[in-house]
Amino acid sequence: MSDRIHSLSGYFHEYQKSVADPENFWARIADSFHWKKRWDKVLDWNFDGPDVKWFVNGKLNITENILERHLFIMGDKPAIIWEPNEPGDPNRILTYKELYEEVCRFSNVLVEKGVGKGDKVIIYMPMVPEAAIAMLACARIGAVHSVVFAGFSSSALADRIEDCKAKVVLTSDGNYRGKKKIAVKSVVDEALESTDLVETMIVFQRTGQEVNMKAGRDFWWHEAIEGQSTSHVAEEMDSEDELFILYTSGSTGKPKGVVHTCGGYMVYSKFTFENVFQYTPGDVYWCTADVGWITGHSYIVYGPLLTGATTIMFEGVPTYPNPGRFWEIVDKYKVNQFYTAPTAIRALQVHGTEPIAPYKLDSLKVLGSVGEPINEEAWHWYHTHIGKTKCPIVDTWWQTETGGIMVSPLAGITPTKPAFATLPLPGVQLAIMDPDGKELKGNSVEGNLCIKFPWPGMIRTTYGDHERCKQTYFSAYKGMYFTGDGVKRDHDGYYRILGRVDDVINVSGHRMGTAEVENAINEHPLVVESAVVGYPHKVKGQGIYAYVICDMSNRTEANLTNEIKASVTNIIGPIAKPDKIQIVPGLPKTRSGKIMRRILRKVAEGSMDNLGDTSTLLDPDVVDKIIAGRKE
Ligand code: WT7
Repeated sequence: MSDRIHSLSGYFHEYQKSVADPENFWARIADSFHWKKRWDKVLDWNFDGPDVKWFVNGKLNITENILERHLFIMGDKPAIIWEPNEPGDPNRILTYKELYEEVCRFSNVLVEKGVGKGDKVIIYMPMVPEAAIAMLACARIGAVHSVVFAGFSSSALADRIEDCKAKVVLTSDGNYRGKKKIAVKSVVDEALESTDLVETMIVFQRTGQEVNMKAGRDFWWHEAIEGQSTSHVAEEMDSEDELFILYTSGSTGKPKGVVHTCGGYMVYSKFTFENVFQYTPGDVYWCTADVGWITGHSYIVYGPLLTGATTIMFEGVPTYPNPGRFWEIVDKYKVNQFYTAPTAIRALQVHGTEPIAPYKLDSLKVLGSVGEPINEEAWHWYHTHIGKTKCPIVDTWWQTETGGIMVSPLAGITPTKPAFATLPLPGVQLAIMDPDGKELKGNSVEGNLCIKFPWPGMIRTTYGDHERCKQTYFSAYKGMYFTGDGVKRDHDGYYRILGRVDDVINVSGHRMGTAEVENAINEHPLVVESAVVGYPHKVKGQGIYAYVICDMSNRTEANLTNEIKASVTNIIGPIAKPDKIQIVPGLPKTRSGKIMRRILRKVAEGSMDNLGDTSTLLDPDVVDKIIAGRKE
């Protein structure tokens, strides 16, 4: 059954209902799912704890709503289409029936290895169907998956294993990405040297490269599934049992494990998928994200599969073997909805329209954007050259913590405006707050974006540290969830996201905490102190600019900056590598020792004549020295 809204008046009507009576609104949506036992109460909540429960005492298994639900009516329909890195290599298509069987087989493997309800399983895998199968098998047996993007370093992986106390890691021998063949298993091996929590590792063979298999701990995926039954009875889960943990960066040093639970996430990811993309049966949908991020969770795996959609998983990168690859894939599979990040659009824009010319792109109905504010130039390029001016663009604002899309046009229904995420989805009650904690009502206002009422897909806690969840999201404004983003509501009541207002930078749609990068830089033995800020970057949206105080010893500046970059890559991963490193004699600090990041941001972005008040600085001269050594 579909809960799709079909018109703008329908949207306003549903929105009204969702605010006037949220419980009935969501109960009606939730009723179209299969519950092993219906809930006693739709919602129990307070934002002080915070303590939020949706579909209280409801019992379900999310994979029954993906697999059993679609098995009999459309078992032969493609669920996942996998396109490999190398264009000439065979693709793979898994029907709903095949997906069901693979998930069951792997569920049986996990059970055989002693994995059960509540156990934590790390998934560190390339973009292959087995990554989705692994997620669903965990969900089916009640284990809690935590997918770690396979570009993270061994030490970042080890931190996550330790934090969630994982006893299993699912991985691959290696990974293909464009021209590169990347070792994956050896990264896990290195991570496991610093922790003894992991009892079992299952390795999917992708590249065939040589790996060390530790007897009794490491098993090949293809051997493990051999002879396993293709049926498995799904575990009964409570609505509020954990479904997954996904780590994300914040303004303090350590990434936090965002916890999502079974019932609410299921309802929210499907509802938002169907409505935002206006998915109709038979459509082919493609989201280019990696399953290591929330976009991959909600809009490659859960949302589309709960809807019975055909979802494409692409292993490669947009520019391999050439910058026409995305468009080749769109034509090959006649993609109807295409969802990507502004950074990918900008990276392709650089190559002009020539790579697009050979392709028709006439199957496209909807274009999506996610991860960072989309600049108007990229919006128009996307609209004109990819959408041929006939496809609505859904600029979807949301976060790892929100579980699903929160502010977005409904494709073809909500009139769009370049760079605006437009209007909140039904059930999403936004508030714009001024710095004093006052809500700014009415139109033409700008402030911090908060949410004043729970929605089913919201974060429940940060794993192992509930206080941190409270501090980070529920303390800045009383009784509200604070997003960390600045926002403007224009004269039409449309929302435009302005970017982070905290110490988080958005690099190519990936969230990086400045403190996390600083900690990694400070690990270098010659670094005394560092400060990291974001600056506008043509392709990445924001780049990473690091100011570093060092003991130069006998190093040249070039040597040292290369070493620092290598050390950040080692500690976090290549995505956190600073774009620019400036060695400085000091940092602009106030008398109380606080670094004035405002000044560092201005210098990094090149607006030096507009530094504001520097009179509270301990040593104002340091600013001139920093300006003199600025990296172009
Ligand atoms: C942050 C969340 C949610 C999927 C990917 C990122 C920024 C996200 C938009 C958008 C402007 C956006 C925000 C947000 N962001 N989408 N459409 N327009 N900004 O998830 O890593 O949790 O990052 O990404 O700053 O807070 P994430």
